[in-house]
Amino acid sequence: MGCMSDAAKTKSADVAADPGRKSMDDIMALCKRRGFIFQASEIYGGINGFWDYGPLGAQLKKNLKDAWWQDCVLSPPTGPDGREVEMVGLDTCIIQHPKVWEASGHVGGFNDPRVDCKQSKGRYRADHLFVLQSTGKMLAKPMYAFIEGDEESEKRAYKLMAKYLKTNLPLPPDQTDVVPLAQIPLSEYHRLVGPDANEPGTLTEPRAFNLMFKTYVGATASEDDVAYLRPETAQGIFIQFKNVVDTSRVRVPFGIAQMGKAFRNEVTPRNFTFRSREFEQMEIEFFCHKDDAAKWYAFWRDWRLAWWRSIGLGSDNLQLREHDKDELAHYAKEGAGTSDIEYRFPFTYPGFGELEGVADRSDYDLRQHQEHARVKLEYFDTERGELAPNGQPKGERYLPNVIEPSAGADRGVLAVLCEAYTPDDTRPSKVYMKFHPRIAPIKAAVFPLVNKDGMPEVADKLARDLKKRYSIIETDAKQSIGKRYARMDEAGCPFCFTIDGDTLKDNTVTLRHRDTQEQERIGIDKVASFLGEKLGLQEN
Ligand code: GAP
Repeated sequence: MGCMSDAAKTKSADVAADPGRKSMDDIMALCKRRGFIFQASEIYGGINGFWDYGPLGAQLKKNLKDAWWQDCVLSPPTGPDGREVEMVGLDTCIIQHPKVWEASGHVGGFNDPRVDCKQSKGRYRADHLFVLQSTGKMLAKPMYAFIEGDEESEKRAYKLMAKYLKTNLPLPPDQTDVVPLAQIPLSEYHRLVGPDANEPGTLTEPRAFNLMFKTYVGATASEDDVAYLRPETAQGIFIQFKNVVDTSRVRVPFGIAQMGKAFRNEVTPRNFTFRSREFEQMEIEFFCHKDDAAKWYAFWRDWRLAWWRSIGLGSDNLQLREHDKDELAHYAKEGAGTSDIEYRFPFTYPGFGELEGVADRSDYDLRQHQEHARVKLEYFDTERGELAPNGQPKGERYLPNVIEPSAGADRGVLAVLCEAYTPDDTRPSKVYMKFHPRIAPIKAAVFPLVNKDGMPEVADKLARDLKKRYSIIETDAKQSIGKRYARMDEAGCPFCFTIDGDTLKDNTVTLRHRDTQEQERIGIDKVASFLGEKLGLQEN
């Protein structure tokens, strides 16, 4: 599915001054400083496209995945027919028979167009390159390529153009034009200066590059033993469709959900975890009769959007975008629904980037596997078909249609981090993370005001009681209370309970709210029920 919508096209100089825009550098610095996300293999210089989650990040990601599993599999929503949606979970292998990926079309067709720079040795996704060219009176020979959504790269192109034209920035808007690389004919590539090159004519023509990670199964490591790391979790679901139907009580319409790692040898991993080479997906394949596909597509599209809102992406930064006709995926039939749930990341601003795709995949995948594996994957629906003389349907045999809501767990975490990041000059930390309590990695903190006078013992007891019921409760007796609050603000802990001198007299504690910094006193016996209510599934 497509990724960024119109980001580069709509970008203009005044965007940078928009106060609503958060700095990705600041967000990444906080992620490192507070242990949300680290560069993978950092002590060896890092490895491009791979990221590790630190203690806070691992818990944040787990909370997001748990919320998805809870709301999709364990307690699914009510469907358009007024009944609870039927959903089961699955956990399939990362490595499957290589024929799975031939049947799915990934070995032959899971390609991105790649352009190489002979001078800088840079590699770029051709569909992520834009070209700045001059028009009108200021006609210039060279054209400058830049990377979509990469501010530095775009600035460089404008600077080089101004230098060539011997003029100052900003360039008069009617004298320049930005077009996608695809619109530049190969015969003009000799005029093209690459994003990291300093002379024209060094970019190669776009070539198809397969994104599948190859590996070998067994000891010989010969070409006969080639296998692939899965590029999506979806195919594991399709190839186990028959087993699930035969062994569980599910009846069409029903869904199979799976989350897990996926691997893509992305040409240009970038924008922090947004485009990584190893990432996690949360996918549902929902099987229904083709006559009901439009209804289920609309249901899942709207429900998934509402779900992202319910866990805290409640602002204008979330949108639904139906695909244009020319964006249809290889499995989609003309007229079938496909949309992206998109988030306005700081690096796509003012445009949006894909968080989840919702697609009507028709019966494409089941049909492909049925043909390649030569195993019948049809479903026998006893509630359909002509009526028999006894008034009962005779049944209908068919390959179900599939509606697929396919979300990225890492992109979800990234969106949650970006949304939560809230600069605030009034607090010592200058920033706080406004996580929805359900997703927050630390749910509550319990502090003794000072590390003496019986306060640590009361704090310990309260923390131990709370930990029995709620996952992560932080206790800390070091540093001043202000510094401890500041640390919790950066960790996004929504509630702090402080045991102080009054607690010992009247059994009340100070409750400090992260978002408002307001403090109030509540009874120590009310703390657990207060947290229970706040950590429930209430609407944002
Ligand atoms: N089964 C359909 C499928 O895989 P996709 O749009 O290619 O569709 C689904 O991927 C989701 O997986 C995306 O919406 C995105 O959240 C996530 N995703 C895809 N490629 C990714 C990457 N390189 N890094 C991080 N997340 C990625």
